[in-house]
Amino acid sequence: MGKMVIGNLKMNILSVSEREQYISNLKKELGKKEFSKTEIVVCPPFVHLESFGKNIGQKVKLGAQNMFPQREGSFTGEISPAMLKNIGCEYVILGHSERRKYFDETDKEINLKVVEALKIGLKPVVCVGETKAEKEANQILRVLTKQIKEVLAGISRTKAEQITIAYEPVWAVGTDIVPTSNEIMEAKLLIKKILISIFDKKYAGMTKILYGGSVNSKTVLEVCVDPAMDGVLIGRESLIPYEFVKIAEIINN
Ligand code: 13P
Repeated sequence: MGKMVIGNLKMNILSVSEREQYISNLKKELGKKEFSKTEIVVCPPFVHLESFGKNIGQKVKLGAQNMFPQREGSFTGEISPAMLKNIGCEYVILGHSERRKYFDETDKEINLKVVEALKIGLKPVVCVGETKAEKEANQILRVLTKQIKEVLAGISRTKAEQITIAYEPVWAVGTDIVPTSNEIMEAKLLIKKILISIFDKKYAGMTKILYGGSVNSKTVLEVCVDPAMDGVLIGRESLIPYEFVKIAEIINN
């Protein structure tokens, strides 16, 4: 299975000139480098999707950071999966911990989004992970089981290949604190078991499992390569093209 490096640009890149600078720097860093084993995906804010799609080049795929689970209609301020698909997105991040925290997104709502994304052919990158308090209370298994079972409820196993799970412990997001490789490996095995209980073994093996939370070019060996994750979901460092591409190179090699 190929690897994946996804950049979640979050609510950054505030102007057209900043965007042009970012795209140009990223293309420069990618240069003539080949990433035969790794898919590189960038998820900019909605307002930048069209320009990224037109200018980012063939080496980078496009993803969104959220969507509303309806095709179209009177939903002021929302963005539909069809819009994302038609503007060139292949991926959509769903259920990020920042959305769970600031917008009270529930697993049931995330499930609706996963269903609608798959319906239109967008590949969901579903974020799961425990908080610090849940970790300290030894609740990781319970939390991951609940999140993954609810988020994937009713999804056919034939869709397993389209789905990516990003294990992002909430306490590792934006903190520069990362789990040990062993902790990540344990979480990965738990996630695999849960996926097998939903999809069965053959199909569950097709779902990629990424790690996210304070990934940089120094932590990437420990959080991705050592625990044999299928890739990473990167926040802050994806805003620095040099670092983002360096991480992709480490994973690809
Ligand atoms: P950081 O890499 O900035 O910790 O953010 C991780 C993240 O939330 C990616 O979705």
